[in-house]
Amino acid sequence: MPEGRFHLFGRLSNKAVSMQKKRLTIGMSGASGAELCVYLLKALQQQEGWESHLVITDSALLTLEHEVGMNEQQLYELADHVYGRNEVGASIASGTFKTEGMVIIPCSMKTLAGVRTGYSDSLLLRAADVTLKERKKLVLVARETPLNSIHLDNMLTLSNMGVVMMPAMMTFYNQPETVRDMSLHLVGKVLNEFGLEMPGFRRWGSELCKPLPESK
Ligand SMILES: Cc1cc2nc3c(=O)[nH]c(=O)nc-3n(C[C@H](O)[C@H](O)[C@H](O)COP(=O)(O)O)c2cc1C
Repeated sequence: MPEGRFHLFGRLSNKAVSMQKKRLTIGMSGASGAELCVYLLKALQQQEGWESHLVITDSALLTLEHEVGMNEQQLYELADHVYGRNEVGASIASGTFKTEGMVIIPCSMKTLAGVRTGYSDSLLLRAADVTLKERKKLVLVARETPLNSIHLDNMLTLSNMGVVMMPAMMTFYNQPETVRDMSLHLVGKVLNEFGLEMPGFRRWGSELCKPLPESK
């Protein structure tokens, strides 16, 4: 290839890369807390320069309908890119597809076990496996209670591998008035993991969430 053409190709390629939005893979499994995924997708729409790549499991459709009253299509409209549940040839199934990482929200105990063991029998699990092998950030919003020793062992192993275990736990210090407030706070914490700030996020010590006056 002539030198000039090679340089031109190189410049164009770099420009294309710099214009590329940052990609976040979002997995939704069949744990309770379907609305957490809905809120995360909506929050990501507000983040300039980012795009969502969504994959769900079969069971996620049950919780989505039961807890949020949404169907598959309504959920998909919130994402920038959507993949088939068993589309293991999709872009997010390859480590060469550049992403900033992945969030599984909510993450069931079955999916947690699949991630821990590398048992990638769905696109969601394959995408998580790829995120791990590429040493990208993986955030698991695990949801179950109470937890048995298998769940805890899986969480510890993944945490030791660098996975961010962010269970869907209730928060009170941010003075939520509704379940939605609590859910949004958790979503704000997920976004923080990727350096993103959610408008209205009640950070401790901020105007929105002042520490209590010192007790006398
Ligand atoms: C309404 C509903 C709520 C559920 N909540 C949970 C939960 O909080 N945590 C969990 O691990 N499984 C929960 N399950 C069970 C999972 O959906 C089930 O284990 C499923 O096989 C998970 O598959 P997946 O990980 O491929 O989505 C729930 C199921 C239903 C129908």
